[in-house]
Amino acid sequence: MKIINIVGARPNFMKIAPIMTAYANYPDIEPILVHTGQHYDEKMSDLFFRQLGIPEPALNLGVGSGSHAIQTAEIMKAFEPVVIEYGPDVVLLVGDVNSTIACGLVAVKLGVKLVHVEAGLRSGDRTMPEEINRILTDSISDLLFCTEQSGVDNLLKEGISTERIYMVGHVMIDTLLKNREKAEESNILSLLGLDGDDFAVLTLHRPSNVDDPAAFGRILDAIETIQNDMPVIFPIHPRTRKKLESSALSKRVNEMPGLRLTDPLGYLDFLKLMSHAKVVLTDSGGIQEETTILQIPCLTLRDNTERPITTELGTNQVVGTNPIKIIEAYKRAVNGGWRKPAIPPLWDGCAAERIVRILLEEL
Ligand code: UD1
Repeated sequence: MKIINIVGARPNFMKIAPIMTAYANYPDIEPILVHTGQHYDEKMSDLFFRQLGIPEPALNLGVGSGSHAIQTAEIMKAFEPVVIEYGPDVVLLVGDVNSTIACGLVAVKLGVKLVHVEAGLRSGDRTMPEEINRILTDSISDLLFCTEQSGVDNLLKEGISTERIYMVGHVMIDTLLKNREKAEESNILSLLGLDGDDFAVLTLHRPSNVDDPAAFGRILDAIETIQNDMPVIFPIHPRTRKKLESSALSKRVNEMPGLRLTDPLGYLDFLKLMSHAKVVLTDSGGIQEETTILQIPCLTLRDNTERPITTELGTNQVVGTNPIKIIEAYKRAVNGGWRKPAIPPLWDGCAAERIVRILLEEL
């Protein structure tokens, strides 16, 4: 079985890594890894391949950045001849980025079976580009692998038949569990001068939070208070840095001595940083899940989550972007008023193995 596997953006890399490893036990599978090039910086891409031992992609489509329409269209144009040349039996997609839907559309129109890993997640917020990518990708996929029960329920509600849906756990958590010990060897805490100190971690990159200086400014109102209490480490996404540098907010940030910007961190450094943080503030999807396993309080700076299991069982709370609410939640988190989490079902490090076995049985 020839399987083309698609990666494009940073959150895809930790999801594909354990799947590529699992294929190695099954000689009947010929995996081909294709990188769309949606993310291309060393710190957004290559570093993850090295640290996670992901094999070199057979091809990099080199599409880079652009508006949603341009990026999606460029990926489709570049991927179509690849599918025609390689003639795969299956195209496997992970996550919800533009590369996911773009390659999915190409494959399904060429009659290739489509598999979606991390299917069924829904925020209910159609202004999020990822929500559109999720809905469309699921609707054209032949096999759908879910990380949590809400994903299964959402797909059933959308009329997808039960035989195509599998609850398998979470490949991103496979990667976290595999690398947790190795991450402890990272010297990022001493590099940042944090040894033994309480500190918070902040990540922000959603267009709704960073594209509008007023929205970004409201979050900074809360951060201003928090950084007076403990250092806030802010590994900054390239889009966020660009937005900051093109607005008056950059002056405000420079005037906060406790807010410390760093370049985007590699996987192991970031895992170590999160594991030792007192609290994490984020608008990322994956970080809500990783903090649940690490048992670190997570404040999600959005009005919704597509990963409700992290709020039901885990350490995540959706606090929105009102500065007063953020500060209240921060105080509860650092004063021990946070629930002890439970591990979501099947987040056990074996999701990739389950997926590969099901692929062999079903396709
Ligand atoms: C993408 C995903 C998002 C995911 C995020 C993780 C979509 C719609 N969004 O958002 O779901 O959470 O990746 O990072 O697919 N840039 C660089 N270097 C890079 C990559 C990006 O400088 O290697 C800059 C460019 O200015 C680019 C901007 O970041 O225009 C945004 O990149 P893009 O790939 O469009 O989306 P992300 O915001 O990274």
